[in-house]
Amino acid sequence: MEKSKKQRAISGIRPTGKLHLGHLIGVLDNWREMQENFKCFFFVADWHALTTEYDDPSKIKVYSKEMVLDWLAAGIDPEKGIIFLQSDIKEHAELYLMLSMIVPIPWLERVPSYKEIKEELTNKDLSTYGFLGYPVLQASDILIYKADVVPVGIDQVPHVELTREIARRFNNLYGTETFVEPQAKLTVTPKLLGLDGRKMGKSYNNCIYLSDPREVVSEKVMHMMTDPLRVKRSDCGDPEVSIVFGYHKIFSPHEKVKEIGEKCRTAQIGCVECKKELIKNLWGYLEQFQFRRSDISKKWKDVDDIFFEGGKKAREFSSKTIKEIKEAMKII
Ligand code: TRP
Repeated sequence: MEKSKKQRAISGIRPTGKLHLGHLIGVLDNWREMQENFKCFFFVADWHALTTEYDDPSKIKVYSKEMVLDWLAAGIDPEKGIIFLQSDIKEHAELYLMLSMIVPIPWLERVPSYKEIKEELTNKDLSTYGFLGYPVLQASDILIYKADVVPVGIDQVPHVELTREIARRFNNLYGTETFVEPQAKLTVTPKLLGLDGRKMGKSYNNCIYLSDPREVVSEKVMHMMTDPLRVKRSDCGDPEVSIVFGYHKIFSPHEKVKEIGEKCRTAQIGCVECKKELIKNLWGYLEQFQFRRSDISKKWKDVDDIFFEGGKKAREFSSKTIKEIKEAMKII
């Protein structure tokens, strides 16, 4: 396929903490595949981080840089996709401002994550203008590159849907076809659950971090939930309800998964033995990642270089779109 005919894809992660296994398996593996066939824009959503971390933003910078090293170790390649820092591209903010003029407040109030996150993060005051506007900023990220697809998890689908509505509203209002309506592309990888069976997430305290050393990984696996109905070693288990078995499916060889499943059902293997096998395989995988991570951090002493180069490329697109927007609105 010719380079310019490639579909465009955009996705970002908020730098609010260290990345965990759910990011690697759910998000970054997907990005790595997409960078082969799409024109990809991968960015660090540091302004989005501010919507919830405004009371202590000092760590955002460090997390941003650390996160990009994780991306590189996961095989995201700055030669293939454009890696950049959201706040380096002022056009996101400019479009955000313009879109804020045309987005009705009720559209924002009914976005499910608005209520959910407010209820979840009770220790933060999220009754701010910026937090309500979160999806408008996200729409700007997407629309400014006229992205065709947005690879995201299921929780982000309403944001992409809203982005489509905003694009339509803009195009109708100004009688143009400036914006492309993007599609969400759901991650196909089976979702990796947290240690307790909920979605893996920092605020649930149920993560295996990409930087966890072997002892920590082992301890976490040892505390993972198995089949709660299998009380005694001699009881037969149901591997399908065990979190540990879900991990085996991702990190253990196919044959081993089959064997463990059968042995669990017939009480030939106990949970401790099963977990030890997982620790071996999971650690093998993570250790490789950590080797690559440490090599890469030696090579890229300064992630700012990556942001600088990626920023230049991103700006080529974003500045063009801003010009088109102003033309459509006849304010140029
Ligand atoms: N809201 C996304 C999340 O929390 C992060 C994000 C911000 C994003 N802007 C985006 C994702 C644009 C895709 C496209 O995961």
